[in-house]
Amino acid sequence: MELTVETRPPASIETEALVTYAFEQDKPIEGALVALDAATGGALAKLASSGELSGKMLEVTLLHYPAGLSTQRLLVLGAGKKDKFGSAELRRLAGSAVRTLKSKKVKRMAFLIRENSQNAEAAQAVVEGLLLGNFELEKYKTDKKPGGEITEAALAGFDSSAQGEAARGLERGRIIAESQNFARDLGNEPSNRLTPRNLAERAGAMARESGLAVEILDEKKIEELKMGALLSVAQGSSEPPRLIVLIYTPQSVKPGAPILGLVGKAITFDTGGISIKPSQDMEKMKYDMCGGAAMLAVMRAIARLKPSCKVIAVVPSTENMPGGRAQKPGDVQIAMSGKSIEVINTDAEGRLILADGIAYAKQLGCTHLIDAATLTGAIVVALGNLNVGVFGSEPGFTEQVLASARATGEKMWPMPVDEDYREMIKSGIADIQNVSSGKGGGAITAAMFLKEFTGDTPWVHLDIAGTAWQDDVKPWSAKGATGVGIRTLIDLAMKFGSDGAAKA
Ligand code: BES
Ligand code: ZN
Ligand code: ZN
Repeated sequence: MELTVETRPPASIETEALVTYAFEQDKPIEGALVALDAATGGALAKLASSGELSGKMLEVTLLHYPAGLSTQRLLVLGAGKKDKFGSAELRRLAGSAVRTLKSKKVKRMAFLIRENSQNAEAAQAVVEGLLLGNFELEKYKTDKKPGGEITEAALAGFDSSAQGEAARGLERGRIIAESQNFARDLGNEPSNRLTPRNLAERAGAMARESGLAVEILDEKKIEELKMGALLSVAQGSSEPPRLIVLIYTPQSVKPGAPILGLVGKAITFDTGGISIKPSQDMEKMKYDMCGGAAMLAVMRAIARLKPSCKVIAVVPSTENMPGGRAQKPGDVQIAMSGKSIEVINTDAEGRLILADGIAYAKQLGCTHLIDAATLTGAIVVALGNLNVGVFGSEPGFTEQVLASARATGEKMWPMPVDEDYREMIKSGIADIQNVSSGKGGGAITAAMFLKEFTGDTPWVHLDIAGTAWQDDVKPWSAKGATGVGIRTLIDLAMKFGSDGAAKA
């Protein structure tokens, strides 16, 4: 999609569709809509007084060949109540506009940002919405209609003095949304087309393109490093594991400056292993690599946005298969950290590979750790498909992540990390066991397991099992992998850099 800033008055923009939005209030036709209404001879005001145009969230009003305007169509979306309106709503409106217009074969559009919000933040949100909404799951369709996408979009409503600010927001939004779409594409890939080796290749290609340092550890190197927990999961598959390491180094780093470590779970398919999963819905377990894909996407974005802190992504990747050499319930494994783990359930494999990923990130010098993982079905029970579960060892650092989530329109909710839960993962024969012996709290005991490996390094864990995938299409986005967490972590990395250390 080609993106530009448009400074002409809205009525004279020649395009296939001019999009704007109206608020839900007594008189929805106000502000920038007054001029458009006047140009159309009062068409909008008539629709409003008949009740057809009310401003209700996501309401669609489409006028064809509106007299007095240079556009072929005028699309007015409902924006809901003004006091509840922010960049999250704007992002969704832009996505909904793209999807509405795409279905009508429109290729070129302009999005008019309303009065008093012509700033970089709004431009960014609109561009993110446009690009995320344009993303489609068509890769493996042989009868895809050529060019069923919006190819050109302009941001309107800016005068020439605000053009620079709009362009800055546009560029930032483009980088962030393209990175999120990079992760969505990976998440949607079937496991026969995205093995750990394929994922490593794609991460390597992206890193070279982005100017990031990259190191891919193969099974031999993983063995040399004694990553017994990662290897224990990999041994059940004939596909070898990989450990992907991407490094962003800013132009100048002060000695002793904090280093942000991003660890992402990348199980390219989770059968459960010998503790095999039921076949119902098992095909979805191709998305068990979305935590890893999110971290790759964050690196892609920060390579371009250039925060002032060093950031290292560590993405352990393997299949979880029940092959002849697979680990069995009751096996004891020695993790890279030296801790022994009794594997009670081979389906609790994410925490095993993350244990070694975390240990490696610490060895590389990370002073702050964030992991993202489709870790537990229990987080879906706790929070449904709407909120990411957030666990953290230090309130200050956890709050920074939650603040970035709020700023970027991603729903996240804090969960308890409480030493009393530690009791439930005590093992009879090893240091720790990989599932709880108690009832309930499965997402929390999984987090407690990870915490064992973080030591005293400030750490935040994002359980994205309920939010990394959407089963249904939304007005603003296609179904499938969502790319959740990426916007939050990019925002955090940018602030982490400018603040110096996280105030943990
Ligand atoms: N990948 C799954 C978690 C998951 C569940 C992701 C649903 C997405 C949707 C994870 O590896 C797993 O199987 N966890 C088990 C842990 C249990 C054995 C303690 C679970 O949640 O059932
Ligand atoms: Zn599993
Ligand atoms: Zn899994």
